[in-house]
Amino acid sequence: MAISDPLKLVTNHRSLITRPRRLRQTEALRSMVRETELNPRDFIYPLFIRHGQGRTPIASMPGIAQLSVEEAVREAEKAAELDIPAVILFGIPAEKDPVGLENFADDGIVQQAIRAIKRGIPEMVVVTDICMCEYTDHGHCGILNVAPDGAQPRPSQSLPEGYVLNDPTLDVLGKVAVSHAECGADIVAPSGMMDGMVAAIRDALDTTGFENVPILSYAVKYASSFYGPFRDAAEGAPKFGDRKSHQMDPANVREALREAALDVDEGADMLMVKPALAYLDVIRTVKEAFPELPMAAYNVSGEYAMIKAAAANGWINEAKVTLETLTSMKRAGADLIITYHALDAARWLK
Ligand code: PBG
Repeated sequence: MAISDPLKLVTNHRSLITRPRRLRQTEALRSMVRETELNPRDFIYPLFIRHGQGRTPIASMPGIAQLSVEEAVREAEKAAELDIPAVILFGIPAEKDPVGLENFADDGIVQQAIRAIKRGIPEMVVVTDICMCEYTDHGHCGILNVAPDGAQPRPSQSLPEGYVLNDPTLDVLGKVAVSHAECGADIVAPSGMMDGMVAAIRDALDTTGFENVPILSYAVKYASSFYGPFRDAAEGAPKFGDRKSHQMDPANVREALREAALDVDEGADMLMVKPALAYLDVIRTVKEAFPELPMAAYNVSGEYAMIKAAAANGWINEAKVTLETLTSMKRAGADLIITYHALDAARWLK
């Protein structure tokens, strides 16, 4: 049936007192009532640093590369020019071993990068990731109860082979944090999900004169499959097994409150939820429980790779989808977002 006058279908239209569309009529009106605004000052830009020269592109993360120290300084300069206040550093060592000795070596790759970036761009906030997985030959986040070749069994309380020993790992994490602080790191960010890692690092920093170095704790970090591309980038995939004995079960949210509360008690200055996109409810829950602490969300490698892949196929608009995604993280309660899209997102926001 053809309708000659569509307005005839409308009855009662004058009774609509509330019309949310009134405030959506123009961009000017929409921007006046916008609740969440992304800003380059919200971003922390991750950098992967390796020995040698130049840039080594990472296939699963188009636009991201492993960088020499010199290239890392250049990349940090680009961030500074775009008003991005901070970078977070990940190192790929020259050699790996069961303990990850380069992780706290004075001439380690991250140590070199911290000094170079602070020398070149003093105002850039240098955050460092504190974990062992990129430095150990087995790719795990701590000291194992059995050496990778099966020799030298350690006392294990009948734990499974390859179990990450908690307390011996804490001593190493403390050393790494102090080593980074000595080079001028502004914030240290433990990511290994060891129990007591914030307390151990706080104690190590305080007893070496670094009581003013803040800790951004990866307090709520899930055993996620979204880290795949990062493990290519940082060459830190576990050689066997997985990280489920320390990272959280993706099904849990009440446990996130327990993890966050512990880290707050241990002296964390800032909290993080990771990954971000599949965990927006967790970001909101943790933010509501600890509104007084700044909170970061980690927009992880798999989230980045999915957008890049879909955009490369012409299936989505990269800029719009990226900004929409980052906005969702901020709307959920994140104050800061660690994102590989930081440079482009800052440009798109201009
Ligand atoms: C551990 C660490 C990881 C990420 C950040 N820090 C990897 C892991 O836990 O396996 C992942 C970040 C990403 O996927 O972008 N050093």
